[in-house]
Amino acid sequence: MKALVVYGTRYGTAAEIAAEVAKVLKDENLDVDLVNAKALKNCDISPYDLLVVGSGIKMGKWTKESMNFIKKNKDNLSNKKVALFVSCGAANDEKTISEGQEKYLDKVAIENLTNPPIATGLFGSVYDPNAKSMMIKFVNRFIKKEMEKQGIDTIQRVDYRDWNEIRAWTKNLLRK
Ligand SMILES: Cc1cc2nc3c(=O)[nH]c(=O)nc-3n(C[C@H](O)[C@H](O)[C@H](O)COP(=O)(O)O)c2cc1C
Repeated sequence: MKALVVYGTRYGTAAEIAAEVAKVLKDENLDVDLVNAKALKNCDISPYDLLVVGSGIKMGKWTKESMNFIKKNKDNLSNKKVALFVSCGAANDEKTISEGQEKYLDKVAIENLTNPPIATGLFGSVYDPNAKSMMIKFVNRFIKKEMEKQGIDTIQRVDYRDWNEIRAWTKNLLRK
């Protein structure tokens, strides 16, 4: 079985998830290609049985390149196994999980795929108090307040990605 893992990322968080997904699939003896959607031009998806497509979320949106990949291949994806994942801040807090699932995964699948995906994964992000990006620094001010309310130490980096969940989600794709 051949799999393609395509990801869109702005700060590298979804890229690391995609790399782990690809690693787990390889360990399960799949023939796997891992590609940043930015590097994709005219990709022929016909050799692949399983396509895992994911993105980080910024202001409610997937990256343009990962979304374009889905849109461009809509017809060809209709007879493939497709799984979608996102890395987003909404996944970090129980209060916002269902909203994130609906906006970043369910809606994206309904609007852009012919058939429902075999799985969707809403994965967390990383809080980095030492991030250099101005955009992240700006967003961190809001996140920090929320974290402080929850009694979480904001001096240290917090990785909200649950790697065991990500690995289990990936292994489960093979049972679909
Ligand atoms: C400028 C900015 C905007 C963001 N907007 C959202 C958002 O609308 N919803 C959300 O759940 N998370 C949002 N986040 C959190 C990101 O989705 C999260 O950091 C994710 O892990 C980024 O993935 P990437 O590093 O692969 O781009 C935002 C982060 C930044 C820096």
